[in-house]
Amino acid sequence: MAIKIGRNDPCWCGSGRKYKVCHQNFDDKIQHFANLGHIVPEHDIIKNAEDIEKIKESAKINIAVLDYIEENIHEGMKTSEIDKIVYDMTTDMGGIPAPLNYEGYPYSVCTSVNDQVCHGFPSDKVILKSGDIINVDCSTILDGYFSDSSRMFCIGDVSEEKRRLVRVTKEAMELGLEEVKPWGFLGDMGQAVHDHAYANGYTVVREIGGHGVGFEFHEEPWVSYNSVRGQEMLMVPGMIFTIEPMINMGKVDIYTDPKNDWEVYTKDHKPSAQWEIMVLVTEEGHEVLSW
Ligand code: MF3
Ligand code: CO
Repeated sequence: MAIKIGRNDPCWCGSGRKYKVCHQNFDDKIQHFANLGHIVPEHDIIKNAEDIEKIKESAKINIAVLDYIEENIHEGMKTSEIDKIVYDMTTDMGGIPAPLNYEGYPYSVCTSVNDQVCHGFPSDKVILKSGDIINVDCSTILDGYFSDSSRMFCIGDVSEEKRRLVRVTKEAMELGLEEVKPWGFLGDMGQAVHDHAYANGYTVVREIGGHGVGFEFHEEPWVSYNSVRGQEMLMVPGMIFTIEPMINMGKVDIYTDPKNDWEVYTKDHKPSAQWEIMVLVTEEGHEVLSW
């Protein structure tokens, strides 16, 4: 960092307060970790109180949409119906579905069933049947601020083997969350996720991770769940990122459907599960903003 702000100048965060009573100590602390060789966040991903309020408003829509889907998803439903619900509810509440036209993505939501790892296309040809597990991944833009979270749903009579995958994946995300606190490292969180998955005989997808979020759909840092305690980016108050591990029942290998360059599957076609929350690092620890 090469900032030279006077102690009495306005803080870079936009709070309007003097630097010395706002982020000066924060910057000194970050510099200390940078000097030790750690990866540290840039100012452009740090959210101030006003930003956080706006992101929470965006997240309210995301949560409401997922709550509605949770209550209404059922056997016999087409995943295209989920897409329509997401589009209609999000726009009715004044938001925009973030996936729509994102890097050419053609739908408002991702619906990933069974061996689909992520980015499943909603379709009127995909009809949910008893025994399916599905991830519904919603992301919202409100007033230029982004929110992102996803949940798993079990349709009808799901095998204990698949239920266990869904449960352990959620536990892994929650164990990762417990590690989120200021002046720790993303690797603390990532290793907690990784260890729980592997202790249960599962694997954690390596190529696709989580991300910073709020000002953009996907911003720094890239978040791995195959990382090591004490490594990866320093976590600091005002950072927001997702915990969204994709956990496979079988082998770790995945591939992207060459027909559309989006839909990701497990190579062995065994099931994969994912839960996603959006987490703010606070002075005290963390706050989950979207789930
Ligand atoms: N919602 C996904 C995530 O959690 C991103 C999907 S990209 C899209 O990061 F274009 F498919 F929406
Ligand atoms: Co995400």
